[in-house]
Amino acid sequence: MRKKIVAGNWKMNKTLEEASILASEVKGMIEDELMSGAIVVLCTPSLFLLPVRNILGDSKRIFVGAQNCSEHESGAFTGEISAAMLKSAKVPYVILGHSERRQYFGEDGALLARKVDAALKHNLTPIFCCGEPLEVRERNGHESLVKKQLEESLFHLDDTHILSVVIAYEPVWAIGTGKTASAQQAEDMHAVIRRHIASKYGQDTAESISILYGGSVNAANAKELFASKDVDGGLVGGASLKSREFTEIAKAI
Ligand code: 13P
Repeated sequence: MRKKIVAGNWKMNKTLEEASILASEVKGMIEDELMSGAIVVLCTPSLFLLPVRNILGDSKRIFVGAQNCSEHESGAFTGEISAAMLKSAKVPYVILGHSERRQYFGEDGALLARKVDAALKHNLTPIFCCGEPLEVRERNGHESLVKKQLEESLFHLDDTHILSVVIAYEPVWAIGTGKTASAQQAEDMHAVIRRHIASKYGQDTAESISILYGGSVNAANAKELFASKDVDGGLVGGASLKSREFTEIAKAI
């Protein structure tokens, strides 16, 4: 059975003190209240990965994740963080291909394929983001764009490595806008993604890969979104910055 995962993407928010308080609160609530076998991931700014990991300790249900890593192994790349560094700091997850990185930092499919390779080489789990902007949805190009994003950055992987990837479908028009995709829109796209993976890797592999939904998930809409059969959890932005709300979202899976 595929893993249920609720991941928080803190983006560029919080000071060290605030981050430590948020991580401690989430950890306490998750340990006390999460009854399912879901996994919770806190994707923090790089600077907070170690302190947050230390707060989370050796928990088997709540982990730390990075928001990006370099495609390079090491060297003269000022300001970058490598997959090897994340591994050495016991950071098991890394978000790759978030739409904000595609949009503001010019990350394209070929670059993301190299980042995915770098992450997998060091046994990190990439949370690979895909999703269409509003104008693409409006001209009904969302299915073909998302399929292309998967092909460009994941379909070079072999049958084993693809199983180590988590996919997050995040329609760009739903990110930070308060405009969530409907449960039906989410389910439709998750089914498209799973069928596309099945067309390349077979049904069993496609059934084993977790596909998360992201875009204005909150405590009020999480249950309905997560009820869809192809939605295996969420990638949560704004609502992950509040411990109680994020915990309620995690409990909704
Ligand atoms: P919001 O939940 O704030 O819409 O952000 C979603 C997101 O980008 C998670 O990666």
